[in-house]
Amino acid sequence: MTPAAWKRAPSVVLEPVGEGNRRAVQELELLPEQQDFVASNADSLEEAEEDDEAIARAVVAAGHVVGFLMYSAPDDDNEATIYRFMIDRRERGKGLGRAAVAKVLEQIARLGHIHRVAICYEPNNEAARRLYAGFGFVEQGFDEDDEMIAVLELSR
Ligand SMILES: CC(C)(COP(=O)(O)OP(=O)(O)OC[C@H]1O[C@@H](n2cnc3c(N)ncnc32)[C@H](O)[C@@H]1OP(=O)(O)O)[C@@H](O)C(=O)NCCC(=O)NCCS
Repeated sequence: MTPAAWKRAPSVVLEPVGEGNRRAVQELELLPEQQDFVASNADSLEEAEEDDEAIARAVVAAGHVVGFLMYSAPDDDNEATIYRFMIDRRERGKGLGRAAVAKVLEQIARLGHIHRVAICYEPNNEAARRLYAGFGFVEQGFDEDDEMIAVLELSR
């Protein structure tokens, strides 16, 4: 595979966060201008410990933790929500974000009971808007925190 092709289609795996990778997840960094777009991973992991429905995953590429995401897909609901997602500042722009979204959507779809996936982001987060729109997420309007909600209907 040429370097250009690898850049377009990197391979990622989503791993549960535990003793072996927790520190690496906590050490991931955002760019200064991205700080307001997502809670810190340390805060998100604390939140996950209090919430049985939170599914926290490290995004791993070539054996290294490069990102983090968190979602819920309750058994008694047909809607999943991806509510945390970040790729480390040193790894951005390599296609890893797109690969991670593809992977989590694949895992959510495989659950079988989920028909739609919701995601939210700050209205000035152009990178997130473009990334999610590329998967077919459609903007619905603002939530009570003035974040944009976008929804993807999974084809059945
Ligand atoms: C949004 C984010 C996850 C993208 O990760 P990434 O690995 O850099 O993204 P990719 O390289 O896979 O890019 C995929 C697509 O995202 C969009 N994108 C990514 N970075 C972008 C930027 N700086 N400006 C505009 N669009 C951008 C583009 O559509 C891009 O596709 P293209 O290269 O074909 O144009 C990453 O920038 C990030 O962690 N941001 C801070 C946290 C955040 O905003 N999280 C989302 C809200 S919860």
